[in-house]
Amino acid sequence: MTHYTTAPGVAAALAGFTLPEKLGFGLVLAPVMYSVEYADGRWGRGALLPYGPIEIAPGARALHYGELVFEGMKAYRAGTPWPNLFRPLDNCRRFALSAERLAMPAVPEALFLEGVDAVAGAMADFVPTGGGKSLYLRPFLYGTEAGYLLRNSTTFRFMVIANPVESYASGPMKVAIERFDVRAAVGGVGVAKASANYAASLRASSASIARGYTVALWLDAAEHRYIQELSGMNVFAVIGGELHTPSLDGAILPGITRDSLIALARHLGHTVIERPMLIDELLEQIRSGACTEVFACGTAAIVAPIGVLGDTDGREYVPAQVDVVAKQWREALLAIQERRVPDPFGWTRDVARPAAG
Ligand code: COI
Repeated sequence: MTHYTTAPGVAAALAGFTLPEKLGFGLVLAPVMYSVEYADGRWGRGALLPYGPIEIAPGARALHYGELVFEGMKAYRAGTPWPNLFRPLDNCRRFALSAERLAMPAVPEALFLEGVDAVAGAMADFVPTGGGKSLYLRPFLYGTEAGYLLRNSTTFRFMVIANPVESYASGPMKVAIERFDVRAAVGGVGVAKASANYAASLRASSASIARGYTVALWLDAAEHRYIQELSGMNVFAVIGGELHTPSLDGAILPGITRDSLIALARHLGHTVIERPMLIDELLEQIRSGACTEVFACGTAAIVAPIGVLGDTDGREYVPAQVDVVAKQWREALLAIQERRVPDPFGWTRDVARPAAG
């Protein structure tokens, strides 16, 4: 049953939309969005609206205190006319944990799915296909109450926007090891998909891009020795034919793609080792050839090859192979996501069809 309303401009917004040839990642916006507000301790009625600017009180806590959490998830439509979502309930659960960490009200599962289904269903004809293309969905929740007192808002808004996308990384990534700034500390909000984590990463990200790199590699906050993640992607290394990835340390975001790769690889009989990984040890293993490949994974990135790791002293470490093992896992994962092979885990779920009328 559909509980949300559909604004009069939605049909015209969708009728006027065409899928461009070049999608990039986040460059093309879906012409519709979903919005629902929370006040007086309860959620109101959701609405599907034409995509457009939102009003926000200039004193809102989301703007001043970063009271904002979000999710990234994808709808695929490869062989079938109707799209399916990949592990949406896991995104919903992580969204609730993120909200809990920031003491915001969780978006109930039915409401979360309503928002995601409303946008993905409206965009069903515009979900791009092939080569890992998809409809990327961004559910987000933020505090709307104005005020400087350091406590939570009492009013919130949950929204879903979307973008038809290609994969986030367009080729092998150049990773810049960040030895000074810290993305997240244990006990902080690293495990939550909070905008604050991304804010903490931006200075190093911009600096690494200015140095010709693609992305910064984060180390642990206490010792600056253990690999965490790439702010937006988790990291894997191929060592002695095994997959090694940093164990979730309480500051790393628990990636759903990371979890999927671990489950899929183990299901297919491969060894996956989750352990604390020292950056200097990994660099030595790349140098000696013990580590043959390094790659990243994430919802946006799918499985993305890493071509080089650059240290702050200017030294660069080039793994022996690029996108050999990564390609194998990208294709295996995409085959499930695009429903080209049976899904032994029950990970995919049809987007709910909008109610007639
Ligand atoms: C995602 O993979 O969904 C993310 O949020 C990463 C972001 C850097 C695009």
